[in-house]
Amino acid sequence: AGTTLMDPFGRTITYLRVSVTDRCDFRCVYCMSEHMTFLPKSDLLTLEELDRVCSVFVANGVRKLRITGGEPLVRRDIMSLFRSLSRHLKTGDLDELTLTTNGSQLARYASELADCGVRRINVSVDTLDPEEFHQITRWGDLDKVLAGIDAAQAAGLKVKINTVALKGINEDEIAGLMEWAHGRGADLTLIEVMPLGDIEPSRLDQFLPLSIVRARLSASYTLDDLDERTGGPARYVRVKETGGTLGFITPMTHNFCESCNRVRLTCTGKLFMCLGQEDSADLRTPIRLSEGNERLERTIAEAISRKPKGHDFIIDRRHNRPAVGRHMSMTGG
Ligand code: GTP
Ligand code: 5AD
Ligand code: SF4
Repeated sequence: AGTTLMDPFGRTITYLRVSVTDRCDFRCVYCMSEHMTFLPKSDLLTLEELDRVCSVFVANGVRKLRITGGEPLVRRDIMSLFRSLSRHLKTGDLDELTLTTNGSQLARYASELADCGVRRINVSVDTLDPEEFHQITRWGDLDKVLAGIDAAQAAGLKVKINTVALKGINEDEIAGLMEWAHGRGADLTLIEVMPLGDIEPSRLDQFLPLSIVRARLSASYTLDDLDERTGGPARYVRVKETGGTLGFITPMTHNFCESCNRVRLTCTGKLFMCLGQEDSADLRTPIRLSEGNERLERTIAEAISRKPKGHDFIIDRRHNRPAVGRHMSMTGG
């Protein structure tokens, strides 16, 4: 313990993303297929085990934990994990404990999250049109999400909206989403759609480079580049007219891998060194083999020593196969 985790390219791992469940109460078209088979609950790490792995990462230099899914707030008793992890904020060993959520359960959990030391959350909203929201999420109810965002802000949480830019679907609404988010004191980050999981041909056509979106917005808004970062992959601009912050996450057109500081843990205890690669390390075995953490720490260090240089989102157009076959809901983005 007490070491830092460095990969072969000199990148220090300070950010752990933890997917606590592969389940979700939505079925977003770019994230899941219509009929998903979920893992049996017996395959999941328990909340105690998740807490243990996170704490080992914190002891080894991780400063930021992001809880994801699936939808993290649908995991039973998830607040006990937040409550327990919050001890690392109190000791100063962790800078940030946060989550990425679809917002559907936020009304219920916002104030408890704030109590656990969560300061800032990311909520996914791709459209403000209820019909279209229902088309994109298949199962989602926009009103519930909006009520969740209200509750989060009322509880004092800083909210960032994540919007996946989808050609022919929400591209005309991006300025409207930005006005809405900035108007209520939230930031907005746009994301390029990535080819993970089952890809229907339609999804390949939905890719919209953010350089185009930025150029279009520039016709009506003044975008000033900001140097500040949040430890994630986004690049930010300040929008003069709204006074708000707009982020761009461009895995497809502008690779940000050279400054990658993160790895991801799945709900079954697999450690993925990169979102866009298949290689993973099994942490569940060392967790369950021993009560001590030496073996677990060795497995983590060994895994990080083979972190690849970058992702490999190549689409095999002839067979319509993505390079990465697993769904986003496995690794939580
Ligand atoms: P901030 O702390 O607000 O910077 O959050 P974040 O951008 O790190 O996290 P969030 O969960 O909001 O992720 C936003 C999007 O960025 C998701 O679509 C993620 O899949 C994507 N993303 C995050 N990290 C990586 C990465 O290492 N590689 C790729 N390709 N995409 C990433
Ligand atoms: N490409 C880009 N972003 C995606 N997300 C889920 N699937 C994809 C994908 N294929 C986004 C969600 C959420 C974040 C965690 O990842 O919208 O905001
Ligand atoms: Fe659920 Fe998020 Fe995936 Fe949508 S993107 S299906 S809300 S995990």
